[in-house]
Amino acid sequence: MMIAAMKDELECDQEEDKELQSPTMKLRRKDVTEQDIISTAVVILVAGFDTTGSTLSFLFYALAMNPDIQEKLQSEIDEAIQGSSGSEGKLAFAEIQEIEYLEKVILETLRRYPPVGVSFRECTEDYTFPGTQVKIRRGTEIQIPVLGIHMDERYFPEPERFDPERFTKEAKAARHPMAFMAFSHGPRMCLGMRFAMLEMKVAVVNVLRDYSVRACAETPTKVTWKPDAVTSTSLEPLLVKFEKRVKN
Ligand code: HEM
Repeated sequence: MMIAAMKDELECDQEEDKELQSPTMKLRRKDVTEQDIISTAVVILVAGFDTTGSTLSFLFYALAMNPDIQEKLQSEIDEAIQGSSGSEGKLAFAEIQEIEYLEKVILETLRRYPPVGVSFRECTEDYTFPGTQVKIRRGTEIQIPVLGIHMDERYFPEPERFDPERFTKEAKAARHPMAFMAFSHGPRMCLGMRFAMLEMKVAVVNVLRDYSVRACAETPTKVTWKPDAVTSTSLEPLLVKFEKRVKN
């Protein structure tokens, strides 16, 4: 579609598509260049696949290192599957959303191992931090240390510890609303957050219903961040062992 748009060949069969051709729109189809298409494709791959893929790697690594948390999650998943109305134990959208512990484990993974470790913003107006002389001038680029905030013990005591209970309703309400920023905040926050959460939940349910993850000789005891990575990456591969579950 983007290539067709660049060549101005895109057919309009929908009402909303026609609106795109409105003379009041600043961007005309001809303005779509090859550079725009390549940049958009890279953003789709990095924003849509790399983030969820690396979160799942960190999640299975964290479960291998915390067998008690894995066991609790598996028993909640098993319970949801047993109580499910769907055929062959397939879970419906609402049933997946009801597995509260699953959401907590994913959010704690994103807290401990946020794929986007730093967010960039440009200051749009002069700002002085209340009660200080610290000023940020309009036009200054700000780098927000997401990983640093997630590992700040003022917001997350014992930050090294993997603890899904940090994401109970009560714990979330007691914390500064900006303390968790894996999906960023404000008008340019992650566009795919809800989709990403659902996608990861489906993946975790489908793996853990049949397999358990175990640490093995090759599993690193802690994650060391690769310093030159765009999205957070472990320096060492996060190798774990998958064991087929034996169910009664
Ligand atoms: C674990 C999964 C994900 C995480 C942690 C994540 C995180 C983020 C963050 C932090 C930003 C804001 C970057 C900034 O501060 O400038 C962002 C933006 C974005 N994300 Fe995600 N993301 C995830 C998955 C996805 C998925 C699955 C999609 C698409 C289906 C997606 C689409 C986007 C897009 C299009 C933007 C740019 C929004 C804009 O600039 O207005 N993300 N994401």
